[in-house]
Amino acid sequence: MTDPGRIRDVVRGVPVFPDVMPPFDPSAAPSSPVDLFVEWLERAVQDGIAAPHAVTLSTVGEDGTPDARVVIVKDVTAAGWQVASSSDSPKGRQLAAHPAAALTFFWPAAGRQVRIRGSVSVGSADENDADFQRRHPVARALVLAGSQSAVMGGREDLDAAVEDQVRKIDAAGGLASTTWTVYTVAADAVEFWQADQERRHTRLLYTRFGEGWRRTMLWP
Ligand SMILES: Cc1cc2nc3c(=O)[nH]c(=O)nc-3n(C[C@H](O)[C@H](O)[C@H](O)COP(=O)(O)O)c2cc1C
Repeated sequence: MTDPGRIRDVVRGVPVFPDVMPPFDPSAAPSSPVDLFVEWLERAVQDGIAAPHAVTLSTVGEDGTPDARVVIVKDVTAAGWQVASSSDSPKGRQLAAHPAAALTFFWPAAGRQVRIRGSVSVGSADENDADFQRRHPVARALVLAGSQSAVMGGREDLDAAVEDQVRKIDAAGGLASTTWTVYTVAADAVEFWQADQERRHTRLLYTRFGEGWRRTMLWP
């Protein structure tokens, strides 16, 4: 058992934000949140921030309970933020029942968070297949081998199923998946959050307004 208060002391001593963070002037922000996101993402890549394209995808279960997990952002376009997964995974079923999601990026070394909320649409068969074929061979084999997040007997079942599917893919010169799906989150709201060492954090919220976007500042 951990002593009461021990973990509180451990975490209290851990700094959350670095001493130096990139500047953010909301008055100079572009009119579209996609443009600002791309600026921030490119800066994160240049600054060597670990996995800046990893994002928490939050969904709503059929019974209304929230669920969340980390996925990879595949692309960002004027249409929205693209992630990909199997339609027969829990998140795939949740998105089929409630086609809406939140994406949360956190880039600790920059003291930056981006929050995106919006409706979700699925890719065409061609888009889904193009993304599937770009995946690592083992990742493709895994999708073909079994339903993501289904209960697994043991590691040997996984290894055998992957080997079997890799053989089948090689023999057929490539196979298609019926479940791999590109999901596009079309944002209704995007918030950019920049930490400040003095705790006067900057928050800029974009919300849809007609054909464009309304920008507002939020109290930290
Ligand atoms: C950094 C990172 C990236 C991941 N990328 C993906 C991804 O792009 N697609 C995916 O289906 N799962 C990805 N996963 C696995 C998911 O977090 C999750 O375990 C899996 O999708 C099952 O989620 P579900 O049961 O909620 O459907 C990733 C995990 C990590 C830690």
